[in-house]
Amino acid sequence: MEQIKELIKYAVRAPSGHNTQPWKFIVFESEIQIHPDHTRVLPVVDSDNHALWISLGCALENLVIAGGKFGFKSEVNISSEDKDRTFIKVKLFSLDKQRPDELFDYIGTRQSTRNEYEAINLSVQDLNVLKTCFDIQGINARFFSQDEIKVLEPFIIEGSNLQFKNKKFVTELVSWFRFFEKEAKEKGDGLWTACMGLPKMNRFIGNIVMKHFVSAKSEAKRWKKLIHSSSGLVLFVADKNDIEHWVNLGRAFQRFGLTAAKLNISHAHVNMPCEEIEVRKQMTKSLDLTGKHPLLLIRFGYSDKMTYSFRRPVEDVIFKKDAYI
Ligand SMILES: Cc1cc2nc3c(=O)[nH]c(=O)nc-3n(C[C@H](O)[C@H](O)[C@H](O)COP(=O)(O)O)c2cc1C
Repeated sequence: MEQIKELIKYAVRAPSGHNTQPWKFIVFESEIQIHPDHTRVLPVVDSDNHALWISLGCALENLVIAGGKFGFKSEVNISSEDKDRTFIKVKLFSLDKQRPDELFDYIGTRQSTRNEYEAINLSVQDLNVLKTCFDIQGINARFFSQDEIKVLEPFIIEGSNLQFKNKKFVTELVSWFRFFEKEAKEKGDGLWTACMGLPKMNRFIGNIVMKHFVSAKSEAKRWKKLIHSSSGLVLFVADKNDIEHWVNLGRAFQRFGLTAAKLNISHAHVNMPCEEIEVRKQMTKSLDLTGKHPLLLIRFGYSDKMTYSFRRPVEDVIFKKDAYI
């Protein structure tokens, strides 16, 4: 059990929307199941739960990579015998030797880095490593160079405008903000303002600032600066819009994040045009992606590291079969 606990500790270092960590791990003799935690959903920004399943895919990829390091081969399946209860099944087979994946070493150093980047190009070699960091059926990554960022800019700004004009979006976002280190540490989840590059403030002031001083206009200005400081953007596109593809997209994105960490390249989300359905439709058409599903937009480039986010204790996310409700 101690070894399984260790494996799950690596799994939960994965990114998740608003750092909700929407996962439950159920442990059997030689199988770990990853279930969605429906108490940790984001009904406004993620009404179809695609981001939730992408997050579970990221945790899955960490688990498989860590399994190799601990001498396990993993066989992954998505189980949906019961339509209301879909989950990920990871069967573990003991190997007589380790099966290390070099990305294991970067599970702890990867982070979403939300500061301004240095506005310089990546070397051709590093860009090629990023472009070939995963090979997963049904998932593609479309890269945009610095010069091509302007193609995406109108969709990014439109998505941001819609979100910051939507009171429900702002309320949901702020409910996951953790304004103090003490609060962030105790809850072990959510968006600690230090990781967002925001100044220290209490929840009362924070609510006022977010609701009355952060406007669609100020956000648009901030986003323009952030995207043009990037070396490029990458759009993760799924062939189908279903749970299997969401999980696989999460696995691909996690390999991207770990590979970027290995190369000392920062990355962060610019998801608004994927999250706002009407904007996603327009962007899909404009990029000639009709029939496909662009679900994550990421900026990358060089920058300093930021404060790391917290996780809940691993004991809080491990359930024995009988304890699962
Ligand atoms: C599916 C998904 C969607 C995300 N969307 C956003 C986003 O829109 N904006 C953002 O700043 N971060 C976004 N994130 C990053 C999370 O907020 C981040 O992973 C979490 O706070 C934990 O921090 P870490 O990645 O540094 O470990 C997203 C992550 C995932 C997996």
